[in-house]
Amino acid sequence: MHKENMEDLRKLFIGLDKKVIVNGKGRIVPINFDNAATTPPFKRVLKKVLETSEYYGSIARGDGQKSQYCSDLYEECRNYVLKYFNAPVEKYTAIFVSNTTDGLNKLSNILIEKSDDIVITTRMEHHSNDLPWRNKCNLKYVETDEKGRVKMDELEELLNKYNGQVKLVTVTGASNVTGYINDIKKIAKLTHRCGGKIIVDGAQLVPHKKVSMISDDCEENIDFLVYSAHKIYAPFGSGAIVGLKDSFNKLEPDIKGGGTVQIVLDNHLLWLDTPEKNEAGTPNLFGAIAMVEAMKEVEKIGFKTIESNEKEILEYLIKGLKEFNKVILYGDNDNIDDRLGIIVFNIEGMGYEEVGERLAEIRAIAVRQGGFCSHPYTRRVLGIKTNDLQQYISKNGIPGMVRVSLGIYNTKKEVDIFLETIEYMCRRYLIRFKN
Ligand code: ALA
Repeated sequence: MHKENMEDLRKLFIGLDKKVIVNGKGRIVPINFDNAATTPPFKRVLKKVLETSEYYGSIARGDGQKSQYCSDLYEECRNYVLKYFNAPVEKYTAIFVSNTTDGLNKLSNILIEKSDDIVITTRMEHHSNDLPWRNKCNLKYVETDEKGRVKMDELEELLNKYNGQVKLVTVTGASNVTGYINDIKKIAKLTHRCGGKIIVDGAQLVPHKKVSMISDDCEENIDFLVYSAHKIYAPFGSGAIVGLKDSFNKLEPDIKGGGTVQIVLDNHLLWLDTPEKNEAGTPNLFGAIAMVEAMKEVEKIGFKTIESNEKEILEYLIKGLKEFNKVILYGDNDNIDDRLGIIVFNIEGMGYEEVGERLAEIRAIAVRQGGFCSHPYTRRVLGIKTNDLQQYISKNGIPGMVRVSLGIYNTKKEVDIFLETIEYMCRRYLIRFKN
């Protein structure tokens, strides 16, 4: 992307140029390479929240003008989410949640009916799409290969083996560790052919790619999608589940309380239809507004720009890191067409914690280091075998790496600074390893 366009893009965000104190000394503009964890907000998000504050009122709970205004706005947000994901209202609903973790827990609480329900997931998942399913159903895992990609043949085998019995396949749209993008259309097709439904954990995918609930081939439709606002440039603890209306209408809600019922008698009650049935308590209006405002900005920037920018920077970053003989890159760094702007690495002779700390302390670069709330996958990407894991942990602690994850606003210039800092660190701290 041209420098001028990039600068225009950066201007859409709040705080990118806000200086921080480095090492108790000088002030410096930080570099945020931790966008897979959370993203800074767009200015228009905060502007909209502030404007709406003047009309703040309760949602669906009063006839006051402000209450009416806010209730309408909340429903507009819901409709926008459905439209954004190409989800027809006759078939799908959008349920506002706190974040992806909340949404996936909700789905596991609602959709699992019996402990022998078969659910298939993968070893690529972060904890939020793994733990909610454990000890609740008959959970099967699909392994990842030596490069860290999901073994599609193993998924097919499992689906064939349990043909007609699989309730759900729940899979990440893209990994928060390696950035691999899963072929969700293909997984949807395989799942539907075996009689199951598909859940896509969209926490990482949604901020980087356009996702559509429906496809030309209806076997490729997505049944449930979950994502977080705070990873798509909006704060205020919100997210959404976009999912099949019928399933929610048919099944008990997990959280029960105000706003979910038509009538409550002493010993009986009548649920409202979804989405109200699944949104107990006072809704998070600002969360919904912020999320939708951010999605509007993303749509305006366009995925063509977002994707090409990200690819260019990712290639540049990988090329730069490959130059260091002490840097170990993980995953497939030669064929990167199925990767988001996320890379993981270690520096030989320096723990991942030290790398993260030094990047911050030397040049105010924020990365994430450790097991990325994806311990089973992280150790696989590192190539640590099951039998060696215990010993590895006793000796080294939790297996981990350092992650750089790109956002819309990151630049090649920032990558240059990052690479210079890595070079400095290798020179300064790895003298003992000099070749
Ligand atoms: N938010 C977690 C991450 O940083 C999952 O990847």
